[in-house]
Amino acid sequence: MKILLVGGQGTIGKKIKNRLAAENEVITAGRNSGDIKADMTDPKAVEKMFEKVGKLDAVIVTAGSAPAKPLKDISYDDFMKGVQYKMMGQIHVAMTATKYLNKGGSVTLTSGILAEDPIPHGTVLSTVNSAVNGFVIGAYGDFLKLGYRLNVVSPPLVADSAPALARYFPGHTPAPMSHVVDCYIKSLKTLITGQVIKVGVN
Ligand SMILES: NC(=O)c1ccc[n+]([C@@H]2O[C@H](COP(=O)([O-])OP(=O)(O)OC[C@H]3O[C@@H](n4cnc5c(N)ncnc54)[C@H](OP(=O)(O)O)[C@@H]3O)[C@@H](O)[C@H]2O)c1
Repeated sequence: MKILLVGGQGTIGKKIKNRLAAENEVITAGRNSGDIKADMTDPKAVEKMFEKVGKLDAVIVTAGSAPAKPLKDISYDDFMKGVQYKMMGQIHVAMTATKYLNKGGSVTLTSGILAEDPIPHGTVLSTVNSAVNGFVIGAYGDFLKLGYRLNVVSPPLVADSAPALARYFPGHTPAPMSHVVDCYIKSLKTLITGQVIKVGVN
């Protein structure tokens, strides 16, 4: 398979690339890292990224962030950053992919456990993670009509991020990286579509 992995040099992305690289052609993208430099929050950069890659079989996005702050400090702009960085960045990649995917192709996005299991200061992330899940639930039927599948992986705190992030996730058990990668493989290699794939319950 020819696969575009946006965020392929990140904590989760590099583990997915390691798993897939032997048997697939994996092209990584990031703002400052990867085979192609592209900022997914810039619609023109996204179009250029796909033009460079050409026809492909799958797109995986493991990129996108949002500010973490107490509710009293969250501004309108903070919400808009989450919308731009994590929600619309991913949605625009998914929408543009429909012009480049081969028949039977798939798109896999990334949301996160905060959509359903909150942490302190996580309001914007909970909001945009739910929005990414909502896009997949709302759009997969249209993707299906085009001959494509669309899923989202919702990771919990992942093991490789635990040293840096565990203090922000009190009571959460970090997921082994192999379990996290399995969920992306399931989206990529089975025929499921329209699924929010939760690490640990799949
Ligand atoms: N780590 C966790 O425990 C965890 C838990 C739940 C959910 N998640 C979600 O999983 C996703 C990946 O997390 P991660 O920990 O792997 O993140 P990460 O280590 O920060 O890696 C993010 C990757 O995405 C790229 N990237 C960031 N913004 C981009 C943009 N605007 N356009 C293109 N590429 C961009 C980065 O490369 P450049 O810097 O070169 O752009 C990097 O390769 C995120 O959406 C995160 O919210 C993570």
